[in-house]
Amino acid sequence: MNDQDTMQLRSIVEAHELIDRRVNALFAQEDEALLAARAATRSHHMPAISISPAQGRHLQLLARSIGARKALEIGALAGYSAIWLTRALPQDGGRLISLEVSAKHARVARESLERAGLSDRAEVRIGSAAETLPALVSEAPFDVIFIDADKASYPLYLDWALRLARVGGWIIADNTVRRGLPLTERLEGGASDDTRGLWEYNRRVAEDARLLALALPTDEGGLDGFTIALVVGEETERR
Ligand code: SAH
Ligand code: DHB
Ligand code: MG
Repeated sequence: MNDQDTMQLRSIVEAHELIDRRVNALFAQEDEALLAARAATRSHHMPAISISPAQGRHLQLLARSIGARKALEIGALAGYSAIWLTRALPQDGGRLISLEVSAKHARVARESLERAGLSDRAEVRIGSAAETLPALVSEAPFDVIFIDADKASYPLYLDWALRLARVGGWIIADNTVRRGLPLTERLEGGASDDTRGLWEYNRRVAEDARLLALALPTDEGGLDGFTIALVVGEETERR
């Protein structure tokens, strides 16, 4: 690639980032509770990997489009996405359960939800999701399941999501686009366990006849994004 190509690519990325900022500002403004949740990742020295405001709105659109009442999240961090998602559930009877392996993250997430006035509807359960998911069978079905934890475990989380989601529900996963790496079987020799897990997730979701799915480059100027999957059940023909 010559210098001119590099310059052109950089300006394309910058244009996408500018568009992200404008979409966030126009369609997904953060209020104090959301800003505080994002700020909490910095003040508590947690990674700055909350979803974007537009992704938060996206979660809300998906949840509202099916009248979701019950949602499950895997990976709470500071509770930023949990706030967006819980706000899309009805005040009367809506419920979010978020699974989080780090006791510190869970504490910060609970504080964020408390600040947002959502503690009555949203709870954070501490433990490795592989260990806390089985207990959710008795609380299923869920209308929305949002997967955003350790990437190597996404295939395992898909197995659980398929058990726990209702027909007509959404299974959504973050970070499944990642510069296109987990969208092809041509994984390079050094592909990480994360990339392999994400690829396995995308492949299985794409091929599963019970799901109608798409990977959407929506974040980081289109370099990352969600894979969204509607649980259509066994009967629907996918055309
Ligand atoms: N959904 C959050 C960001 C999640 S970051 C938001 O957008 O606001 C990923 C989170 O997954 C981290 O808090 C990490 O501690 C948690 N995590 C990692 N491995 C996990 C596991 N095995 N079980 C549950 N949570 C896990
Ligand atoms: C990472 C994890 C995420 O969930 C994310 O949105 C971005 C980055 C990470 O582990 O690096
Ligand atoms: Mg993520």
